[in-house]
Amino acid sequence: MQFSKLILSASILAASTNAAPAHNHGKHEHGKQDKRDIVTITEVVDVNGNVINNLGQLKATTTLVGNSNVVQNVVVSATTATTAVAAVSTSGSSSSSSSSSSIDGDLSDFSAPSKKFVDGTIKCSDFPSGQGVIPVSWIGMNGWTSILNSNGDTSSECTDGFYCSYACQAGMSKTQWPSEQPSNGASIGGLYCKDGYLYRSNTDTDYLCEWGQQSASAVNQLSSESISLCRTDYPGSENMDIPTLVGAGSSKPISVVNQDSYYTWQGKKTSTQYYVNNAGVSVEDGCIWGSEGSGVGNWAPVVLGAGYTDGITYLSIIPNPNNSETPNFNLKIVATDGSTVNGDCKYENGVYTGGSTDGCTVSVTSGSAEFVFY
Ligand SMILES: *[C@@H]1O[C@H](CO)[C@@H](O)[C@H](O)[C@H]1NC(C)=O
Repeated sequence: MQFSKLILSASILAASTNAAPAHNHGKHEHGKQDKRDIVTITEVVDVNGNVINNLGQLKATTTLVGNSNVVQNVVVSATTATTAVAAVSTSGSSSSSSSSSSIDGDLSDFSAPSKKFVDGTIKCSDFPSGQGVIPVSWIGMNGWTSILNSNGDTSSECTDGFYCSYACQAGMSKTQWPSEQPSNGASIGGLYCKDGYLYRSNTDTDYLCEWGQQSASAVNQLSSESISLCRTDYPGSENMDIPTLVGAGSSKPISVVNQDSYYTWQGKKTSTQYYVNNAGVSVEDGCIWGSEGSGVGNWAPVVLGAGYTDGITYLSIIPNPNNSETPNFNLKIVATDGSTVNGDCKYENGVYTGGSTDGCTVSVTSGSAEFVFY
């Protein structure tokens, strides 16, 4: 029998998490990044909580367990599974701004990238909107979500020697990060700026955004308020500044990264994480590195985790140890019609399924599931 958990784990990289806030709004100011002191990995464990090492890179995770933030284990009743992947049309819009103005471009939702990114043609001072890439305007970095170099320095401008990370539209994930990562356990991602122009840091793909497993979505059943889901920029600063705004009565795709091919941290698989702000908080106010007690960003009341490995999607609702206040919504994970979801997972009136203080996880062995806000 197998269990799984998505972990918000006390990280062994505390040394790299220089606490000095680095909100650099001046030009070319460099500083150290704000960073979470946790990292998320996925593990499969047996009934006793022991890690099972038969899944490729899921090994040697014991250094990261033993903290209080382990998510409740959930029985995976099927060992093999088929996963339905929604068909993606290839006829999407194909605009992108490679000319002068920085953050314009067609930002409407579209189906799939159709126009290849060409290295060395877009200036680092421009922002490559379109083809799924969306600018994040409220953190003062010309659309970028983080700008880091391999020493962990930050910059407020995308400039030579830095990795300039970016947001993709809801449900899509960035494809760009260098295979060579800092040895101190920090991560970097995005396009590389060299001689004033942008280059892919991962040339295995021609597109900057990709769909993951497409096996989850967020559904907002509240009557009037939007919900801002703020995904961590990872690999990158881990600031929760990648927005998914789910309007009242509507839904948006959740990114479920394929952990068998997505970014690995020191050989371990990583998942997607979203910080969930109280309903009514805007993405501008909520998708930021928040200040203590603010209730937003890293202080938001709930975290969602999502990942896909070995044919199974794992979805979690995870408490944020920074904020134990009951959010102004309830949240549950439910199967879509005809899908198979194992386990129960909800956060209702401030209580997780079964009274757990660790949150909860389900496995989706066929089809897809929804995070329903109600
Ligand atoms: C809580 O906030 C601190 C910074 O104030 C941050 O280092 C930590 O990672 C946050 N915890 C979570 C789970 O986001």
